[in-house]
Amino acid sequence: MTNPDPDAVRVTFEGIAPRYDLANHLLSGGLDFLWRRRLIREAKAEQPSDVLDLATGSGDIALALRVALPVDVKVMGLDFCPPMLAEAECKRISAGYSPDSLRFVHGDCLSLDFPDGSFDLVTIAFGLRNLSDRAIGLSEMQRVLRPGGRLLILEFSQPFFFLRPFYYLYLRGILPFFARWVTGDRQAYEYLGSSISGFPDRFGLAQELRQANFGKVNFVSLTGAVVALHVGEKK
Ligand SMILES: C[S@@+](CC[C@H](N)C(=O)[O-])C[C@H]1O[C@@H](n2cnc3c(N)ncnc32)[C@H](O)[C@@H]1O
Repeated sequence: MTNPDPDAVRVTFEGIAPRYDLANHLLSGGLDFLWRRRLIREAKAEQPSDVLDLATGSGDIALALRVALPVDVKVMGLDFCPPMLAEAECKRISAGYSPDSLRFVHGDCLSLDFPDGSFDLVTIAFGLRNLSDRAIGLSEMQRVLRPGGRLLILEFSQPFFFLRPFYYLYLRGILPFFARWVTGDRQAYEYLGSSISGFPDRFGLAQELRQANFGKVNFVSLTGAVVALHVGEKK
């Protein structure tokens, strides 16, 4: 697969923003709740003080971090798609959080507008796959982390061998039609399928993290490695 074109990615998410959450829950059969919960558990164990959630989208991870972490921890969500950020802002307001306690900002993961070492935890859920240059993205994540700070990546992976025929049938044959029914946008979910099948497996992504100079790289496979949670530490 060629690298995703950032303008096309932005337009895709602009189109599906109002129905993104519903589509996620339906198309994953509710498993996305469990996958996100696993990331939040890891994040909580880190006891961070400044957290940046990249490609935050409609803000579910940032919001869950806000709920799970002590009030004095600063949580920020960043995305380059304004309609997705608008969804996140609505959730922040209806949950009653002030912008001081949970901030959503417009920005590009490939060129983060923060000084070196600004955060002790960076999270990215289902966003890395969409970056037009993962190496640049990972190097930006590394730059904005403090030494000893952690990166948590929740992302689709390549499932265990015996699951692959069913999974790829679902991705290519069923998901785009189902997604069209939910979101009205079949193309967006054809992109989803191809971006998932073109993404490295958990070992490949771990290797990319090491190449980006992260230490203590580790991962756990979730749901038969349909999804993986990777951890890396800034040296
Ligand atoms: C699949 S959504 C994930 C949203 C959210 N993290 C979640 O778990 O539901 C991917 C998000 O990545 C954002 N994105 C893609 N490339 C980006 C970039 N270079 N900079 C900032 N956001 C980006 C898109 O706008 C979109 O909101």
